[in-house]
Amino acid sequence: MRVGIVGGGQLGMMLVEAGASLGVDCITLDPAADSPAARVGPAIQGTYDDPAALARLADGADVVTYEFENVPVDGVRDLEGRVPVLPPPAALEVAQDRLAEKALFTDVGLQVPAFAAVDDLDGLRAAVGSIGLPAVLKTRRFGYDGKGQAVLRHEELAEDAWRAVGEVPSILEAFVPFDRELSIVAVRAADGELRCYPLVENHHREGILRVSYAPAPALTDELQTAAEAHARAVGDRLGYVGVFAIELFQAGGTLLGNEMAPRVHNSGHWTIEGAETSQFENHLRAICGLPLGDVGVHGNVAMVNVIGQEPDAAAILAIPGAHLHSYGKQPRPGRKLGHVTLLADDPDALRERVLQVSRHLTDA
Ligand SMILES: Nc1ncnc2c1ncn2[C@@H]1O[C@H](COP(=O)(O)OP(=O)(O)O)[C@@H](O)[C@H]1O
Ligand SMILES: [Mg+2]
Repeated sequence: MRVGIVGGGQLGMMLVEAGASLGVDCITLDPAADSPAARVGPAIQGTYDDPAALARLADGADVVTYEFENVPVDGVRDLEGRVPVLPPPAALEVAQDRLAEKALFTDVGLQVPAFAAVDDLDGLRAAVGSIGLPAVLKTRRFGYDGKGQAVLRHEELAEDAWRAVGEVPSILEAFVPFDRELSIVAVRAADGELRCYPLVENHHREGILRVSYAPAPALTDELQTAAEAHARAVGDRLGYVGVFAIELFQAGGTLLGNEMAPRVHNSGHWTIEGAETSQFENHLRAICGLPLGDVGVHGNVAMVNVIGQEPDAAAILAIPGAHLHSYGKQPRPGRKLGHVTLLADDPDALRERVLQVSRHLTDA
């Protein structure tokens, strides 16, 4: 099998690596010559909307997929006549627009924070009137790692928030006083079979994921079942094939849908060492029509993101149960450069190891 991947970031890199041992040859497309994926496999350098580059990616591929959601939908739709594109571009379309995403969640019975569309400053003021404060203003498109967002606490600062997000079509969302953030990573096959990893507890700072715990501490069957039902409903509605993630806020026994990623997800990186089958392998299995892999977990697992600055690798590797992944990216403040997966026999030992790793990270 041969798979073309639009995007060559760290997600592409880890897909390529999973493909190598599966016998699935992956090739990536990325604007950068030195993308993380180019370190581990064949890569085409080109923009995502360059028809010639996309044609080269599709040439000889059995299936085309993507590893980030801001791929121009028209470009991948054009490929569909030539080669299957999975997940279906319709999923990409929904996930690219926070308004469409929230409409879909609501439609399938997943509650979301109160929200309103905002197209101009007057619209923002009206939305503040109906939603109340505090609230979060988010651009409908192109946001990631907390970019394109502003928390609004005082009505007088509406104009500043509107400017901060770049005065583009946005949504205003009620600020949720959640107990914790969770995510469910699911893989869906073409025949509708769905498998979900256990819910993961995620810790963010400045809108960027820092640490994930898998399974989420104190995870109940009830919560897992509820999250899986939501994942199934979303997957079925989109006719989804491949891995996707839904980010959730937990408030008491209630789950609220935050956003979805139509791709492998940062909160699933722990599956490489921490699960029977990694999210990357399962994504390839699903889109290649191969049987889905076991989603069982190896005990207590955590993942710590390496952000902004490379750590002393030897110090990290000296920590028992630690696995370092470096993406080979140029350091930059706020940039994800790698991650560390940690395994431990019990939750206390795991937490201790997370602290040990954090001490070696400058911007963790
Ligand atoms: N409505 C909200 N209430 C409280 N915190 C929020 C809300 N929306 C986002 N956040 C915080 O900001 C983070 C990033 O927001 P998110 O919508 O997931 O955007 P991104 O696409 O940047 O990941 C979330 O993981 C959460 O910590
Ligand atoms: Mg998010």
